Amino acid sequence: MGGAILSGLRAAGVPDLRVTTRTATRALEGGDGLQVLVADRDPEANRSAVRGARLVVVAVKPVGVAALLAEIADALEPGAVVVSVAAGVPIATMAAALPAGTPVLRAMPNTPSAVGAGVTGVAAAPGTADDDTAAVVAAFRTVGTVVEVTEDRIDALSAVSGSGPAYVYLVLERFIDAAVRLGFRRDEAADLVVGTAQGALRLLAATGEEPAELRRRVTSPKGTTERAVAVFEQHDLGGIFDEALAAAMARAKEIAAD
Ligand SMILES: NC(=O)c1ccc[n+]([C@@H]2O[C@H](COP(=O)([O-])OP(=O)(O)OC[C@H]3O[C@@H](n4cnc5c(N)ncnc54)[C@H](OP(=O)(O)O)[C@@H]3O)[C@@H](O)[C@H]2O)c1
Repeated sequence: MGGAILSGLRAAGVPDLRVTTRTATRALEGGDGLQVLVADRDPEANRSAVRGARLVVVAVKPVGVAALLAEIADALEPGAVVVSVAAGVPIATMAAALPAGTPVLRAMPNTPSAVGAGVTGVAAAPGTADDDTAAVVAAFRTVGTVVEVTEDRIDALSAVSGSGPAYVYLVLERFIDAAVRLGFRRDEAADLVVGTAQGALRLLAATGEEPAELRRRVTSPKGTTERAVAVFEQHDLGGIFDEALAAAMARAKEIAAD
């Protein structure tokens, strides 16, 4: 995820970027305004990376966030903004590991950020200066769309857009499998299903219509689509989504409690 954000920042021409990994195997190619540091080789890597930085993006696994923040705390520039993408680590937990008054935000991006088509939720603590929130929003806009939410909405947002790409892929998987059972070769089935999904989304974007309206336009009264849609509705597709999103949010609570 850190790599995806970095690609967006580089593509947007943000100057003077510094990035750290723990191991050399994960290190990126430096140069062209990017300084690469490896913590295993240089124990000062993380502290050097944040010195003088206006914005610090933390993209380690949730379990590593507190230790990393403790490591960099006294190397941070006064006024530096810290934003973490770690799922389930509250702003209060991060703030407790940092100098008092450090602006701390949470961001919840999703994997299409890697191709500049992400959706990121950004949450700031109450009282965060507008300029500080704007710096974080601008950083994540380089990899897609940004939605600002209060922190109490981050788990809900994560259940929708953070995990969302997986739901879309699951639907495509099941749809492709069904096409194969109708007799199409797997590659044909994938072309039919993925092509249909891409086309449907492009039509949605091009027309600016609601999904429900475009669905109605495919669904002639007493036609074939109407019969198929009725089957989805008999199985309460909306209820399945409600249950799935509730399960994701419950898991986020468990992770935060750990
Ligand atoms: N994947 C998603 O869809 C998604 C969505 C939203 C949020 N997130 C969040 O993004 C975070 C990262 O997830 P990921 O899947 O990108 O994990 P990942 O592939 O393991 O990446 C973590 C990176 O952090 C580096 N790192 C770990 N500890 C470090 C340290 N002490 N100093 C310097 N670098 C360190 C790792 O380097 P080494 O590999 O060399 O150890 C690695 O490059 C997680 O907190 C996750 O909750 C992920």
